[in-house]
Amino acid sequence: MKTYKPFKSGKVREVYEADDSIIMVATDRISAFDHILKNKITDKGAILTQMSRFWFDFTSDIIPNHMLSVDNADMPEYFQQEEFQGNSMKCKKLHMIPMECIVRGYITGSGWESYKENGTICGIELPAGLQESEKLPEPIFTPSTKAELGDHDENVSLEQGAKVLEKEFPGHGQEYAEKIRDYTIAIYKKCAEYALTKGIIIADTKFEFGVDEDGNIVLGDEVLTPDSSRFWPLAGYEKGKSQPSYDKQFVRDWLKANPDSDYQLPQDIIDKTIAKYKEAYELLTGKEFSR
Ligand SMILES: Nc1ncnc2c1ncn2[C@@H]1O[C@H](COP(=O)(O)OP(=O)(O)O)[C@@H](O)[C@H]1O
Ligand SMILES: [Mg+2]
Repeated sequence: MKTYKPFKSGKVREVYEADDSIIMVATDRISAFDHILKNKITDKGAILTQMSRFWFDFTSDIIPNHMLSVDNADMPEYFQQEEFQGNSMKCKKLHMIPMECIVRGYITGSGWESYKENGTICGIELPAGLQESEKLPEPIFTPSTKAELGDHDENVSLEQGAKVLEKEFPGHGQEYAEKIRDYTIAIYKKCAEYALTKGIIIADTKFEFGVDEDGNIVLGDEVLTPDSSRFWPLAGYEKGKSQPSYDKQFVRDWLKANPDSDYQLPQDIIDKTIAKYKEAYELLTGKEFSR
C-alpha cells in the first residue's frame, strides 16, 4: 500500500496531498490557551469534519467550495484505515488566497481590546458605548494576513490586504480582496442567522478562500467549526461580560483551576467536552452524530 505523509501538520489538523487533490484530516487533538493538550477528544475530528461538510452544503448557493468527498472509499487505500474514518475530507486543491477572512458579528476577544483602546477594530469605526460581547449593528470584515509559523497573524485593512494579494495574483489583488470580503459577510450572515434559531450564537469566524484552475474563487479550509469560530450558547447570553465557549468551556475552566496539570485533563472533563461537541453538531445539523 502506498503510504502518505502530511505536507502540513497543524495543531489539530493534518493535510495530505494525493494526486491532484488534498485530504484534510481533523484529528482528535484539542488545543486550549495555545497548547495542545495531552488527551485526545474521541470523535472530535469526525464531528468537526461532518460539521464543515454540513456548512459547505448549506452555503453552496452562495459560493462553490473545495469539498469533493467525505467517503473514504473515494480516497487512496491508505485513507481507508480506521484512523481516517469520518474525519477526512477529500478536497479540490486550490491556489490559496493568503488572507484570513475574519468576520465579527459580536464584539469580543482582540476586537474588544482594540475597541476599548480607540473605538475601532482594524481601523473600522464603531459606535460609542458598546459593551463586551454586544452584537454589532452589522457584521464587520477584519482580515489578517498569515504570518510565518510562530508569529501572530497581522490585522490589515482591505487596502493593505489587497496589496498582499496583488503579489500572489498580479492584476487581481483589489478584485479578490473585495470579492472575498463580500463572500465572507454573506456566508456569515446566512449561517449565523440559522445557528441562532438552533440556540447557538456564532460570535465570529474565519474563512479561507482559494482560486481553482478555472479562475473561480472557491471556499476552502474548514468552515464554521468551533475550532475556526467562537460559538456561544444562546441560553444565558448577556452583553456586558465575557461568554463561555460552547465547546471548550469545561476545558478552560478546569485548566485555570488546575495550573499544575501540565495540560493533562481528567476523564470526566474529556467526557463532558465530547458531549458538547456532539450537542453542537446535533443542534446545528438536526442529525444524531454517528461514525
Ligand atoms: N483546498 C485547499 N488547497 C490547498 N490548501 C488548502 C486548501 N484548503 C485549506 N488549505 C490550507 O491547508 C492548511 C491547513 O492547515 P492548518 O492546520 O489550518 O494550518 P495553518 O492555518 O497554521 O496554516 C492551511 O495552510 C490552508 O490554507
Ligand atoms: Mg488554519
